[in-house]
Amino acid sequence: MRILVTAGPTREYLDDVRYLSNASSGKMGYAIVEAALTLGWEVVLISGPVDLPVPDGCEFHSVVTTSEMREASVRLFSECDGVIATAAVCDYKPKARIPGKISKTGEPVILEMIETDDVLAELGATKEHRWVVGFALEAQNPRENALQKLRRKNCNWIVLNDPSAIGSESNSVELINPNGEIEEVWSGSKSEVATNLIDWLSKRES
Ligand code: CTP
Repeated sequence: MRILVTAGPTREYLDDVRYLSNASSGKMGYAIVEAALTLGWEVVLISGPVDLPVPDGCEFHSVVTTSEMREASVRLFSECDGVIATAAVCDYKPKARIPGKISKTGEPVILEMIETDDVLAELGATKEHRWVVGFALEAQNPRENALQKLRRKNCNWIVLNDPSAIGSESNSVELINPNGEIEEVWSGSKSEVATNLIDWLSKRES
C-alpha cells in the first residue's frame, strides 16, 4: 500500500512578510504517517509549515501555500493507492499579493479575498480506483456538514472532529461513510486515533 497524506496548515501571503494561516499543528497527519509506516506502508507526506520532525522513512514534500499543496498533491496522488487529507488548508487568499511590504498609512486597510483551490475536491474528482479519506472540522451541525463535505469532495469516508482538536494532543472522531452512517468512533491520543484509522483501512483496503 502506498498512500498520500496532506498535513499542517497552508499560508497565504498579503505581501512578502505577512500571511494568513491557522493554528494547525500537523500532529494528526504526522501521527497517521507514523502509524502507516509502522504497518509497512509507503507514505508520501505533503506538509505545510509545522514544528514537527519529519517521520523517518516517509517521502517528504514541504509546501507553504495552498497552490503548492495542490500542485504536489495532484502530481503525487497518481502514484498512490489512496489519500488521507488532514491538512488545515487556508481557505482564502488575498486577491493580489503585493510585492515588498505594505507600509502603514494610518488608514484602515480593506483586503479583497478569494477562495483558494480545494485540494481534496480535486483529488476526489479524479480518484478513479483510488480511495479518499477527508477530515472535517465542524463547529455546527457536525454530522450533516461532514456528510455534505464527503459528498461534495467525493470521499469514500470522512473523519469528523471538532475545532478543539486543533493544536491538541488528543482527538475524538467519528468515521462517516457516504450513506451518512457512523462506521467507527475513536478517541484518545492522536497517535491512538491514527493507529485505529490505519488498522481499519488496512482491513478494508488490502
Ligand atoms: N481541504 C482541502 N483544500 C481546501 C480546503 C479543505 O484539501 N481548500 C480538505 C481538508 O484537508 C479536509 C477537508 O478538505 O480533509 C475538509 O476541510 P474543512 O476545513 O473541514 O472544510 P472546508 O472544505 O474548508 O469547508 P469549510 O471551511 O466551509 O468548513
